[in-house]
Amino acid sequence: MICLGIESSCDETAAALVTDEGRVLGSSVASQIDLHEAFGGVVPEVAARRHLERLSPTVLHAFQEAGIAAKDVGLVAVTRGPGLAGALMVGLSFAKAYAFARDLPLVGVNHVVAHAYAAFLGADLCYPELALIASGGHTVLLQLHAAQEVEVLGRSRDDAAGEAFDKVARALGLGYPGGPLIERIARDGDSRRAPLPEVRTFEGSLDFSFSGLKTAAQQRFLAGAQAADIAAAFQESVLSQLLSRTRTALERTGARRLVFAGGVSANGFLRRRLAEELAKSGVELLVPPLRYSTDNAAMIARLGLALYAAGERSPEDLNAEPVIHPFKP
Ligand code: KG4
Ligand code: ZN
Repeated sequence: MICLGIESSCDETAAALVTDEGRVLGSSVASQIDLHEAFGGVVPEVAARRHLERLSPTVLHAFQEAGIAAKDVGLVAVTRGPGLAGALMVGLSFAKAYAFARDLPLVGVNHVVAHAYAAFLGADLCYPELALIASGGHTVLLQLHAAQEVEVLGRSRDDAAGEAFDKVARALGLGYPGGPLIERIARDGDSRRAPLPEVRTFEGSLDFSFSGLKTAAQQRFLAGAQAADIAAAFQESVLSQLLSRTRTALERTGARRLVFAGGVSANGFLRRRLAEELAKSGVELLVPPLRYSTDNAAMIARLGLALYAAGERSPEDLNAEPVIHPFKP
């Protein structure tokens, strides 16, 4: 079966065609970064309007890349949340209309959980899986027991990891989005010249916190430290926090592999160092292909197919859920 996936939760309009074996036939992403750059962040209403303009061409583009026809599609999957209300509504309306017009089943999916499924585009999925999702909006440790059963082991108490990357980048005068810019300048930096604190949350808790770290980085900059050194120290501190929570989660669950996904997992330093550290205890790190770390619709289709196989069907009045708890897949 081939699934058409639709994604419009934030500033990427995306469509993809994926088979039930997790093979991506076509995937198209229209980024709005240029549109929001001047504002230093995503402007919700502007994003929704751009989704409206871009969605149909993006879907057509995915079909062209896949070289298949509309009649070959057997399922429509769409992001129902979390995300920007207006932006979500554009994708949802399109998906519902498409499914209705072609008499296809529809499955609404959770964007955060879908990030984990990006790792299963080209890799086998074997429940239970442990997943660390670090994106611009969320940082969560999930245990995937089944497509419909997701347990939240830990979550950020304040900012998401990607949000901290973006805010630190802005404080250092680097621009938006901050993740790739921080990663680039950190290569020339020395973390020892601008050390940042290790982040602690409650004893035994698997929760994260990034907002204090962001403030500490800003203070270092105001005190005269070099941006490259701060960027390097910031990445070291993010790594150590991700590692400590992950190690505890691995101990508790007995998992032998960790999925690392979401926009922050595009970071080469974090990918490499996490893989090295986990390998010391025989744990494998599974990351999505780089282009599926950040927002895309292939991951939406992948989770949609898994949910469909587990019996999930969404009603025709499926609505956008801007804020949803990640355990709802
Ligand atoms: O998953 P994503 O594309 O969108 C959300 O669901 O939020 O994540 C976007 C976030 C942004 O905060 C961006 O700065 C961050 O991912 N990001 C990175 C890198 N590339 C993107 N963070 C660190 N290093 C990167 N190379
Ligand atoms: Zn995302």
